[in-house]
Amino acid sequence: ILSNRPIQLVEVKARGRYGAVWKALHKKDTVAVKIFPPQDKNSWLVEQDIYQLPHMQHDNILSFIGAEKHASVIEGAKNEYWLITAYHEYGSLCDYLKSNILTWDQLCHIAQSMTSGLMHLHEEIPSERSDQYKPAIAHRDFKSNNVLLKYDLTACIADFGLALVFQPGKSCGDTHGQVGTRRYMAPEVLEGAINFSRDAFLRIDMYACGLVLWELATRCTAQQGAIPDYKLPFEEEVGQHPSLEDMQECVVHKKLRPAFKDSWKSHPGLIALCDTMEECWDHDAEARLSASCVMERITWQCRQYDGTALPSLAQ
Ligand code: ADE
Repeated sequence: ILSNRPIQLVEVKARGRYGAVWKALHKKDTVAVKIFPPQDKNSWLVEQDIYQLPHMQHDNILSFIGAEKHASVIEGAKNEYWLITAYHEYGSLCDYLKSNILTWDQLCHIAQSMTSGLMHLHEEIPSERSDQYKPAIAHRDFKSNNVLLKYDLTACIADFGLALVFQPGKSCGDTHGQVGTRRYMAPEVLEGAINFSRDAFLRIDMYACGLVLWELATRCTAQQGAIPDYKLPFEEEVGQHPSLEDMQECVVHKKLRPAFKDSWKSHPGLIALCDTMEECWDHDAEARLSASCVMERITWQCRQYDGTALPSLAQ
């Protein structure tokens, strides 16, 4: 896909778990380049393998363009590993929420497209042809930082460096379950008490999805009164840099979850969304909603409570 024309790095756009994401130019196209340091070569391999699985080209999954191995520009230094994807100027949902608020319609569009992406990732698509079979995939680091927004606020899921692929008949080959971002870890992950089945990993993603839905609600204009500044989930409970013990205390022992605001109670759509969040982050993993179920609910709720369905308040 990539020609011999080199890619020009323009500026650092984001820093993540692995190296940095650059805004870059490839001929006339703006692309994103994620640069992995040499010790993270394995994440680069995992991530490109996942993007190249069948059916991974999807409106709500970040578009993969290519991968390159580069000799470092610094003499004597090691290789670096590039992953080239579509570039989205708005960046991550987390960054967007820090500086923008959402109308109810915008919240609905983001929530719907984000859960469609997660549903597609989790879905197994059977096929007679082995080169068309899509295995179920667990993300394992789902959070607002790893959801990108396109120019029209359509969400797409990114960062598959920790993802697990469930090929039938093969063990998923994972040796440790406690990976991902502490703040978004489900209670069973914090406790180190997960069983290593496919469904257990998909349910862990759904817990995190509930937290991201809460982040959307906190910045939505459908609530009454002033919109509070953006806060991470559990920021009020554990602050900016929680330890594993802080998260265990909060999520496992006290069984706390992000608080619903009184100012949401005036909007039937937000009330319904709170029920969905609660069913995503249930302590009992088996009671959590699946991604397809959340997607359907949000689609239905957004239709029911869209601006046009409400009686006009203006007399
Ligand atoms: N931040 C992380 N990945 C990105 C991308 N592909 N486009 C824009 N910002 C990003």
